[in-house]
Amino acid sequence: MENPSLTIVPQDSTDPREIFATETARASALPPKLSAVLTEMEDVARSEGIPIIGRLEGAIVSMLAGLHLSAGARVLDIGTAIGYSALWLADALPAGGRIVSIEIDPARAARAEDYIARAGYADRIEVMVGDAFELIPELGTFDLIFQDVMKHAYFGSDPYLALELLKQCTSHLAEDGVMIIDNAFCGGHVFEPDGADTVNQVLGVRSLNEALAKDPAFQSVIVPLRDGLWVARRVDGDAEGRA
Ligand SMILES: C[S@@+](CC[C@H](N)C(=O)[O-])C[C@H]1O[C@@H](n2cnc3c(N)ncnc32)[C@H](O)[C@@H]1O
Repeated sequence: MENPSLTIVPQDSTDPREIFATETARASALPPKLSAVLTEMEDVARSEGIPIIGRLEGAIVSMLAGLHLSAGARVLDIGTAIGYSALWLADALPAGGRIVSIEIDPARAARAEDYIARAGYADRIEVMVGDAFELIPELGTFDLIFQDVMKHAYFGSDPYLALELLKQCTSHLAEDGVMIIDNAFCGGHVFEPDGADTVNQVLGVRSLNEALAKDPAFQSVIVPLRDGLWVARRVDGDAEGRA
């Protein structure tokens, strides 16, 4: 259930640069079955108000995954929804790789499994139904983690849950792993001054942003795309040593 006090950031940007880049991304070749399923999912998500990352962010997340991952890679996708981001990650997955995708809503998870099978990726993506906070501790380490569960009532109840999830992800990330986190801007609310009406979720995202920006264990940057996309690469924690 989404937090009613925060608007869902639509998959379709109104920024002319993003519109142009999105249309250009649509011209890029994809496996035909995948292409048809992704387009269908975009239409379904638009008509039902399901929050998915959309074409441009999907293509960028896939590109980043493809640049980083090698054979046998393990990927964690947190917040499956109907499986859209999992499919973009799967398109970048090298031979022998596996994706674990976690979704708390069983109905969405079932729809994701159906789309994933129709696109031809059921052998590489496992959808786990449950709460990420309970499931992640049971899992091993991952070469890439995509975390996209922020705009939800779950995080509105406790501002520190966003930080807690960051900690869990960090402890399940491989030594040279990459973490990608959506909604760094929290629908634009992180730009507003703190006030009595600031919802907890914004405080949580602010804390996460500050913690990740300052963490010497990561080289990180917010790509100002759509709702702000964190890209963080684990380093040895010594910036001077990188010179
Ligand atoms: C923004 S959507 C994910 C969209 C997806 N990454 C995509 O672009 O295709 C976030 C999803 O996270 C799920 N979710 C929220 N809290 C969760 C939790 N604690 N554990 C697992 N999933 C959660 C929601 O049900 C929702 O479907």
